[in-house]
Amino acid sequence: MNTTFLKACRGEKTDHTPIWIMRQAGRYLPDYHKVRSQMTFLELCKNPEKAAEVTLQPVDILGVDAAILFSDILVTLEAMGMDLDFKEKQGPVLAHPIRSQAELDQLIIPDPIEKLGYVMDTISLLRTELADKVPLIGFCGAPFTLSTYMIEGGSSKNFFNTKKMMYTDPGLYHNLMAKLTASTISYLQAQAEAGAQALQVFDSWAGSLAPNDFAEFALPYVQEIIAALKPAGIPLIYFANNCAGLLDLTKTSGADVLGLDWRVDIPTAIENFGPDIAIQGNLDPISLLLPEDKLEKRIASILERGRGAKGHIFNLGHGIVPETPPEKAKFVVETVHRLSKGK
Ligand code: CP3
Repeated sequence: MNTTFLKACRGEKTDHTPIWIMRQAGRYLPDYHKVRSQMTFLELCKNPEKAAEVTLQPVDILGVDAAILFSDILVTLEAMGMDLDFKEKQGPVLAHPIRSQAELDQLIIPDPIEKLGYVMDTISLLRTELADKVPLIGFCGAPFTLSTYMIEGGSSKNFFNTKKMMYTDPGLYHNLMAKLTASTISYLQAQAEAGAQALQVFDSWAGSLAPNDFAEFALPYVQEIIAALKPAGIPLIYFANNCAGLLDLTKTSGADVLGLDWRVDIPTAIENFGPDIAIQGNLDPISLLLPEDKLEKRIASILERGRGAKGHIFNLGHGIVPETPPEKAKFVVETVHRLSKGK
């Protein structure tokens, strides 16, 4: 078993810098399209054999140092009682967004085994299939990011309805966040019990908040989730996207590892976080389109800048884009391994 990823999360010395790629199982891989063409995205998420199969694709094709469960952050909202669909071109659609206390009261805090058992089945299958390969990462959406989908009813540019609720009816917004947090905690606990060996909390839209709003409305719920999962004894990763203006705050999340998007200068983050937090990141996903020599220079620079951290897990600064040639993703993995070996 290649444990470099888990060691780097804990800040232990490794013989190379481990790498995995956000959204590594997905549409840039022809192998993914083959499986996906037989069923809808949600059907794929709910089919443990097929979900496990696509989870393993990047492990076998790219040689990454960790697998991430194939699922989506939004399945929790369906489990809570929302009507979720993924439409071609449009992305996720939640037909009845939550905008009032009465609508919120309709949602449940689901029993994860009863409503999301397919996720735990996928994890169990994967642990068997990954036995001598790499560790498995489980994940969830952070309450703020989930709240944007819940309140907007889908993807959004400026999060108008979310912020409107936050600013004009903060009591309702906090109630909604408390319910999302309770659902998330039991979901992650179930993932850990099923065999997830690390957990990542995705806060994709955290950077849309002013620091004081992030501190008041988003961060306390992330802290609550991280604190509740500490007893599981596995590395906890918090990825707040677009976090350059939030470093003073994200460092108090309690997470063992903080994910960085590409807009952040790594040494600045390390100086801010201090000696107790490992980092993950932060290559610009679009830079994978560069010719190999230019791409290699960027990789070398990130490895160099990450050396002062307690631990460094190489990753992109956000999800890999569907237009990426798979050979380039493979080149990144090989280059990170080659340049970091023995250093
Ligand atoms: O990283 C992985 O390989 C594991 C799988 C994974 C998916 N979604 C699969 C997926 C993970 C970790 C996610 C997380 C996720 N989902 C996030 C947080 C990470 C981020 O990128 O910011 C968010 C915001 C979502 C919500 C979501 N899911 C959107 C907005 C969309 C549509 C747009 C898009 O990127 O496709 C999805 C669909 C989705 N989730 C796909 C995949 C492979 C594409 C579905 C398809 O096959 O058509």
